[in-house]
Amino acid sequence: MKLKILVTAGDGIGPEVTNEAVAILKEVASIGGHTFEFDAKRIGGVAIVQDGTPLPAETIEAALASDAVLLGAVGGNEFNSLAPDKRPEAGLLRIRAELGGFANLRPAFAFKELAVNSPLRPEVVDGVDILVVRELLGGLYFGKPREWNHATKEAWNTMRYTRDEVARVARIAFQLAQKRRKKVTSVDKANVLEVSQLWRATVIEVAAEFPDVELEHQYVDAMSMHLMNRPRDFDVVVTENLFGDILSDEASVITGSLGMLPSATIGGKVNLYEPVHGSAPDIAGKGLANPLGAILSAALILRHSGGLEAEAVAIEKSVRKVLEQGFRTPDLARSNPQGFTVLSTKEMGTKVRETVKTLLVHA
Ligand code: NAD
Ligand code: IPM
Ligand code: MN
Repeated sequence: MKLKILVTAGDGIGPEVTNEAVAILKEVASIGGHTFEFDAKRIGGVAIVQDGTPLPAETIEAALASDAVLLGAVGGNEFNSLAPDKRPEAGLLRIRAELGGFANLRPAFAFKELAVNSPLRPEVVDGVDILVVRELLGGLYFGKPREWNHATKEAWNTMRYTRDEVARVARIAFQLAQKRRKKVTSVDKANVLEVSQLWRATVIEVAAEFPDVELEHQYVDAMSMHLMNRPRDFDVVVTENLFGDILSDEASVITGSLGMLPSATIGGKVNLYEPVHGSAPDIAGKGLANPLGAILSAALILRHSGGLEAEAVAIEKSVRKVLEQGFRTPDLARSNPQGFTVLSTKEMGTKVRETVKTLLVHA
């Protein structure tokens, strides 16, 4: 298997966590005799400083010429006063648009070992396995017009979707549900917004193609509550861009830390893989970051871009095993209730890598 992987590590903890993900991919390649070629390019704040733009042309070119892009995170406090189109985040939105992936898969599942780390009670989170399918190229993030008019002291953004933009992401959600527990929850605000009414009507239309999948609708406000009260009731959750952004961070509470969540964006020219978390400026450069979201994103590269299901599963199993053995990054050991062994970013990466090695070599 040959894969060209572009790493855009970005800012803050981005380089720290992607380093660990890449090290594991290299291990998998050497064990299985695969050829993974890695290239690195700048994005975000680091690119603003060095290239004067959050997404240099050469990063776009390299991304489009690769089989998969692994992104760390972008953003930093020093850029907070910039206009949206000048910020590090603009680079991320632009690369998403260039690559064309519209379905951002954000799995959130409970790890038994981390139940003590979640503020939710163990009996609530036990067995939770949710796949948030976030529409990634539409809605308020990309809709026009958008402007802050300083003269009139007003600002506006536009939440806009076409029927086809909704249909294509809904179809992915139903297809994924067919391979899971056959339930789709579509989240909208159809009691207030026309866009959501279009969303709901389109999802109902697409659902007719999938008679074996149950469809339910929830309003986003109620959904944010149900997600905490009864997360086990949900399988695939499909929703528009901003709602998906918010609900996926909320879903991370189930796993115990935002640092655990991976994502894969599919449907475009090149798939994009990124942990759900941001650049975490508060802990950057200290070796405190949890690399497991990035490592699990590497597993998704193997699954969705490499067709290497066994290797993807080996990484996911290794993460579980390392947690079972009591190893934790600081975010997963908040009160250290059971005398966990607290590891740095690098040490955690190494533990998972060693475990992957044992699993794959003895397979
Ligand atoms: P954040 O996700 O960076 O951090 C939120 C909280 O979670 C912080 O307390 C942080 O320390 C913690 N956290 C996040 N990831 C962690 C990890 N891997 N291990 C341990 N703890 C972790 O969100 P924020 O603070 O709201 O945003 C910081 C910057 O990141 C902003 O500029 C924002 O725009 C950007 N951001 C980027 C991405 C991305 O690049 N994909 C995603 C979200 C936020
Ligand atoms: C995410 C982030 C991004 C988003 C930001 C940094 C542009 O929050 O990937 O969840 O809102 O999509
Ligand atoms: Mn987010």
